[in-house]
Amino acid sequence: MTDATKKKIIVSGIQPSGNLHLGNYFGAVQQFIQLIREGHDCYYFLANYHALTSLHEPGRLLELTHSTAADYIALGLDPELAAIYVQSDLPEVCELQWLLTTVTPMGLLERCHAYKDKIAQGLSSDHGLFAYPVLQAADILIVRADCVPVGQDQRQHIEVTRDIAGYFNRLYGELLTVPEAYIPESVAVVPGCDGRKMSKSYHNTIELFAPEEEVRQQIFSIVTDSASLKEPKDPDKSMLYAVLKLFCTEEEKAYWRDRFTSGGLGYREVKQAIFDLYMRLFEPMRARRRELDSQPEYIDEVLRRGAEKARKIARPLVAEVRAAMGIPNR
Ligand code: ADP
Ligand code: TRP
Repeated sequence: MTDATKKKIIVSGIQPSGNLHLGNYFGAVQQFIQLIREGHDCYYFLANYHALTSLHEPGRLLELTHSTAADYIALGLDPELAAIYVQSDLPEVCELQWLLTTVTPMGLLERCHAYKDKIAQGLSSDHGLFAYPVLQAADILIVRADCVPVGQDQRQHIEVTRDIAGYFNRLYGELLTVPEAYIPESVAVVPGCDGRKMSKSYHNTIELFAPEEEVRQQIFSIVTDSASLKEPKDPDKSMLYAVLKLFCTEEEKAYWRDRFTSGGLGYREVKQAIFDLYMRLFEPMRARRRELDSQPEYIDEVLRRGAEKARKIARPLVAEVRAAMGIPNR
């Protein structure tokens, strides 16, 4: 963060639409943890209303919402220090979304890449998908967030939130906090096993909590070219190196860059190294996650407390917005 000395309100969410993966960890969760450690006031939620735009299996959505909450805790989001909650447990978000839609120009939403990409992938264009960024704006503005840690692909959605807050403030008075995205330079887009962006919706992920054998298979399925063992390889053009370096210290990066460029390095060896480094980083979190499997009441309690804390900011905020817009608060 630019000014680590000032306490800020932080908010972010992940859709419980599939199992968490390396992209979610390095692109988002790692920064969530860093901001908790810096002492900010953090709100991290599971965007289950957003997940409804791609997942239409009620049992699976329920299960993923619960299991992703356990994943958050196992990864190190300390519920004593940060509010962890489910989006739908804060129904005020939907009310704020409606109020915000009335100041949101159509053109702003029509320009959104995420919407255009999904249409291009053949997803049906329902109203939920189109209005998705307004719900995201409500998630952020409702807790008066200063700062939103997300991956690169979400930059545009944060811009849209800033625009919506600006339109509102100009019409009704400076009431909404205009937030900033937090995307550190070092946070790259993590490539998936097929070379596209790693994403739950592309089935190209390396998961954080899959059984060990599955993780190994996912890592070994990363596509490579047909270069021979002997050939020197350019690490900056290698997808394997792009994944490997996420786990490496500066020294380890220098070692592997040298191995790539000297020749004599086979792709199997690199994949094995990724697997080993993956286990070095994630095994403690995976162990904690296994323990949480037997503590569903604890997860529920964490989520209840998280929603209660978020509601303390959300309720008065929505009441202020209503009053400013001419809607009575009875
Ligand atoms: P997915 O694309 O798998 O559905 P989400 O849209 O739920 O993931 O993203 C949750 C968070 O993780 C967002 O902040 C997003 O920017 C980040 N993220 C997702 N995939 C990647 C990736 N491949 N590289 C970097 N960050 C990512
Ligand atoms: N759209 C985000 C994603 O796909 C998830 C999200 C929903 C979010 N609401 C948010 C992220 C509010 C940050 C803040 O990754």
